[in-house]
Amino acid sequence: MYREHYGLSERPFELTANPNYLYLTPVHREALSNLQYGLAAAKAVTLLIGEAGTGKTTLLNAALASDRCRHVRGVQLNNPSLTRSEFIELVARRLNLSATAATSKAAFLEELESALRSRRSRGEITALIVDEAQSMNHELLEEIRLLANIETMSEKLLPIVLVGQPDLGARLEEPKLRQLKQRVALRCEITPFDLPETATYIAARVHKAGGVAVRLFTREAVMLIHAHSGGIPRTINVICDNALVHGVALGYQPVGRDIVLDVCRDFSFVRQSVDGARPARQEGQNGVDPALRARGPSSEAADSSGNPVQPDQVTTRSRFRLFDAMRQPLGR
Ligand SMILES: Nc1ncnc2c1ncn2[C@@H]1O[C@H](COP(=O)(O)OP(=O)(O)OP(=O)(O)O)[C@@H](O)[C@H]1O
Ligand SMILES: [Mg+2]
Repeated sequence: MYREHYGLSERPFELTANPNYLYLTPVHREALSNLQYGLAAAKAVTLLIGEAGTGKTTLLNAALASDRCRHVRGVQLNNPSLTRSEFIELVARRLNLSATAATSKAAFLEELESALRSRRSRGEITALIVDEAQSMNHELLEEIRLLANIETMSEKLLPIVLVGQPDLGARLEEPKLRQLKQRVALRCEITPFDLPETATYIAARVHKAGGVAVRLFTREAVMLIHAHSGGIPRTINVICDNALVHGVALGYQPVGRDIVLDVCRDFSFVRQSVDGARPARQEGQNGVDPALRARGPSSEAADSSGNPVQPDQVTTRSRFRLFDAMRQPLGR
């Protein structure tokens, strides 16, 4: 809808795990490397932890699609509410085991081991990848632990990757899950972006879509996007995409602080500590604040006294780094 207006070849902030848009901070790069190692070297259990929307599934897909893991075949489960028998049935089906294996545990284990051995003899690694593992019940996690035990004399036959939100780390501290915890060979944790990373992320996505970030967002807009998203990529995407839509409706370019604040309020992303004392906006035509409509394009440079970002969040140094990040999209 807004591609022509901003000179973009595609929408840069879609909520998909498109590998072309992968952006790696040093923390993400390390996590990706650990994931690749855990999968490619068939480690018993690899743990990937991060808050909702920080990019766990994106990173996992990137690891599976990478060259280092070209011999790895992932069996992905992302429904934590399965019963024990549904879990077995699903794994059996994903691995093309027989109908009997889907209903009899003994047949399942026998067929599974034989399938894993024959794949391994062809140089193929089969990995069980469990997303949303923080919500999995104890029974299911115990079942997964037992599968992690299948091994030859020298290697694990079914490496497991557990992906989940920080609760997963806490759950593994429970005494009844200690055996699973002991099998964790690698642990990676991803964190939200800091301000320069948010700016670079936005710039990199815009650049990939054929645009120039400084022509789409003012610096102050980027600071606010960071402050209200908490550096969570999914939330950054939602704010940016909607801010660009609003920008087209109002004929603004680049998008400034008012539009970003408007979008954040619409989505209830506003963090009070960041938003300062600005009054709640009044609903106007098309959901746009009438005051905003009347003001016309905002002058970001003159707005420092009303800057809603906390002073400790935007130091002079980070302003310079932010400026650099926006001017020089780094891509990956
Ligand atoms: N490193 C990244 N590079 C590019 N885009 C990213 C990155 N991380 C996240 N995103 C974007 O944010 C969206 C949400 O990321 P993702 O689904 O991977 O988060 P998640 O941690 O798996 O969330 P949840 O805990 O809800 O499952 C992705 O669809 C993608 O558009
Ligand atoms: Mg996910």
